[in-house]
Amino acid sequence: MKVVVVGGGGREHAMASVLARTAEVVVTPGNPLIPGSVPDAATAIDADLFVIGPEQPMVDGLADELRAQGKLVVGPGIDGARLEGSKAWMKQVLVDAGVATARHGTFTADQLEPALAFLETLPGLYVVKTDGLAAGKGVVVTESLAEARDAVRDYLSGAAFGAAGTTCVIEEGLTGPELSVFALCDGTRSVFFGAAQDHKRIGDGDTGPNTGGMGAYSPVPVAGPDIVEGVIRDAIEPTLAALTAQGIDYRGFLFCGLMLTPDGPKVLEYNIRFGDPEAQAVLPRLTSDLAQHLFEAASGALVTPPTFTDDAMVCLVLAAEGYPQAPRTGDLIAGVDDAAALEGVTVFAAGVGSDDQQRPVTAGGRVLDVVGRGPDLATARARAYAGAAAISWPGLYLRQDIAAGAAGT
Ligand code: AMP
Ligand code: GLY
Repeated sequence: MKVVVVGGGGREHAMASVLARTAEVVVTPGNPLIPGSVPDAATAIDADLFVIGPEQPMVDGLADELRAQGKLVVGPGIDGARLEGSKAWMKQVLVDAGVATARHGTFTADQLEPALAFLETLPGLYVVKTDGLAAGKGVVVTESLAEARDAVRDYLSGAAFGAAGTTCVIEEGLTGPELSVFALCDGTRSVFFGAAQDHKRIGDGDTGPNTGGMGAYSPVPVAGPDIVEGVIRDAIEPTLAALTAQGIDYRGFLFCGLMLTPDGPKVLEYNIRFGDPEAQAVLPRLTSDLAQHLFEAASGALVTPPTFTDDAMVCLVLAAEGYPQAPRTGDLIAGVDDAAALEGVTVFAAGVGSDDQQRPVTAGGRVLDVVGRGPDLATARARAYAGAAAISWPGLYLRQDIAAGAAGT
């Protein structure tokens, strides 16, 4: 089977490497360190199956375009992509499906007064989100009512995200550990595809600005089978049914971002894709055939349940200096092969380009992912950090506390 992976980051590298166990794999556009990378547009490639990594191409309609060509695709069309493209719509789907989520209200540009009045009804931790895609920058979580009011004014007036970003969702702040749960869907059925914990803040101890994710680990000790089964039964399945009821044939990954609150798991958001860096910690744990699962999902005939090793994986994100605000690029990357030669260490390439001598250089904020594997989280974590220590470039930054709590180190 020939499979095309669309995207060019660490998630796509991980997907491609797991697919390559059983399939011929092409990645577009990929990057210089992802084998099988080609510059051709997905629509210009002939293959048995297409899997789209990032959300933006799906929000823009790539899955619809490929399906119109008669291709088998993992990834929702524009209709299902609204789950990630519009937080207001996603919240309405959750409410329609009866899924537990934070109490919320949706407000448009002309609704400043009702928006401010709604804020006053919330118990104390305030959350203000812009409706559309904002590359992780559209969410303010604050204990300060004044700050929350300012955020609402900035969003609704267009000062924060422009005229296109004036709809906002205001919701109560929840507390508890966060969890990413993944399912693969075929339009009507879904199967559990792993869980991971992500570390979103740039700094150790969860400090500083939000990022796309600075590291992840899987499995997650706080998310035992009862929690995961509950999320599939009480969130994923009713959500898929609510989509079907709207005539949406959702075939692709569904990423449920949850908070494990004292009142039970509540959904923070859905994403229409695998997480990055969660994919790098989850997909290599698969012991069944990824290409087969994806083929079944894209065909609307999901029958084979995925299986995973009990081994643990810890993924560290190696970032460029200045990330997430203004990452510096063009620095020569050294030591990737040395890291990959270590026992239990795999390196995936994210923001990597090449210089005029075809050497790998930094080309984005999150540059490399170093994944350690071991019989337990502590071993996986130690191997990941040993791998990271072999890699260098000027300004390389990584968190020192990825999976530290869960590994008991
Ligand atoms: P989102 O883009 O909706 O996932 O929000 C980004 C991040 O903001 C989440 O990963 C959480 O850390 C935080 N967040 C979002 N909604 C809430 C909420 N209702 N309560 C507390 N934190 C939240
Ligand atoms: N790591 C979170 C995400 O992929 O959105």
